[in-house]
Amino acid sequence: MIKGLGGAKTLSGEIPVRGAKNDVLKIIAGSFLFADTVAIENVPDIRDVASLLALAETLDARVERRGRSLSITAPQESAGHLDPHLAKSLRSSVVLTGPVLARYGAVSFPHPGGCVIGARPIDLFIKAFEKMGATCRVEDGAYRITAEGGRLHGADLFLDFPSVGVTETTLMAATLAEGTTTIRNAAMEPEIQNLARFLAASGARIEGIGTPTLTIEGGSALRAAGKTYAVIPDRIEAGTFLVLAALAGDDVTITGCRPAHIRALTALLEQAGADMTIGEDTIRIRATATPYHAVNVRTHTYPGFATDLQAPMTVFLTQAMGESLVFETIFEGRLNYTDDLKRMGANITMFDPHRILVRGATPLVGKELDGPDLRAGLAYVIAGTIASKESVIHAIGHIDRGYERIEERFRALGVDITRAVD
Ligand code: EPZ
Repeated sequence: MIKGLGGAKTLSGEIPVRGAKNDVLKIIAGSFLFADTVAIENVPDIRDVASLLALAETLDARVERRGRSLSITAPQESAGHLDPHLAKSLRSSVVLTGPVLARYGAVSFPHPGGCVIGARPIDLFIKAFEKMGATCRVEDGAYRITAEGGRLHGADLFLDFPSVGVTETTLMAATLAEGTTTIRNAAMEPEIQNLARFLAASGARIEGIGTPTLTIEGGSALRAAGKTYAVIPDRIEAGTFLVLAALAGDDVTITGCRPAHIRALTALLEQAGADMTIGEDTIRIRATATPYHAVNVRTHTYPGFATDLQAPMTVFLTQAMGESLVFETIFEGRLNYTDDLKRMGANITMFDPHRILVRGATPLVGKELDGPDLRAGLAYVIAGTIASKESVIHAIGHIDRGYERIEERFRALGVDITRAVD
């Protein structure tokens, strides 16, 4: 439950950013490539991490967790059977398939679940595995993938779309394949680069990190040899906090972030008239006397505007003067939440599942809302914070999947927010 500020800009103080969900999940999956223990630090306390660790444990990985530190030791052998119930509960379970298949020669799993933001097919994963010499069967709703002779082989892969998950999965699989793999039209998100650098520091031969062409010379199981994987700060968290502060902040500083990872957002906020001071790992934002102006947003793969920041940005645009076009190019179901913003008073016209027009500025009024996915869920929290009256947000389990104890952290800035049930 949130008691809205009714447009007042009163939030103040510092809010630290936690480790990135979409980075830590990938190194948890990647630990199956290692012959020794992988130590991970800056691990956020979020539900998706707990779910993926539970899944790793059903594969006989040894997991030890202490505060923000984690260590994982993968088994020497495994049948590669991913628990269907756990695997269905999170999309990133599909990223585990690459390392497990490459290490143990076989993997079976159900169609992965996750957020309801579109069809989210896995055709590109299957296509890449088949090119790397695996055979795929679908039986009773489960995929069974087997590498011929127990080992994948290198392949020249061109991704039809620079998919984050497919880039990570094939990159990891290729490190243990026989021969050379080239991934063309690869995604370049900071989390992919962080993962690739750690694999390279642990014996993987990878060239082209941070570019759209990755070349991997396959070899035997990797060795962390005591090195620690440092999870990078969550750029989506940082960007979402920035939007909250832009709308409701008097003087707020976001700390422990990497502003270089959210340039697409800060450039747009600057264009809209936000007053920001950007440091190396902090962003300070102060209230402005003049209203914000409308800006157009087009989601894109990195370094473009992140689709995961689209919902909070749309809330921002409801408070900007003029007409803003939001073009969601990555997922086709990711604008449905705007119906709820309209119920709160936003003036939004949907042209098709990918494009909306936001006319601002319109005051918002608190409502009872059901968070459809974690990013839209937190966008509702921001909308509730700037609205007049009270908002009640249900299905906050989505928010807990990716944000650590968000109500405590927002309360520290002055948001009047309470959690009714766990
Ligand atoms: C990752 O999802 C993130 N998840 C998403 O964040 C993020 O929105 C997305 O990348 C884009 O940045 C994780 O890292 C765990 P994609 P991923 O494969 O890897 C289509 C969040 O809120 N596609 O780049 O699943 C797909 O349907 C989450 O934290 C196929 O068609 O994204 C989509 O339209 C939500 N076939 C597009 O590619 C495939 O086989 C981009 O998806 C695979 C993907």
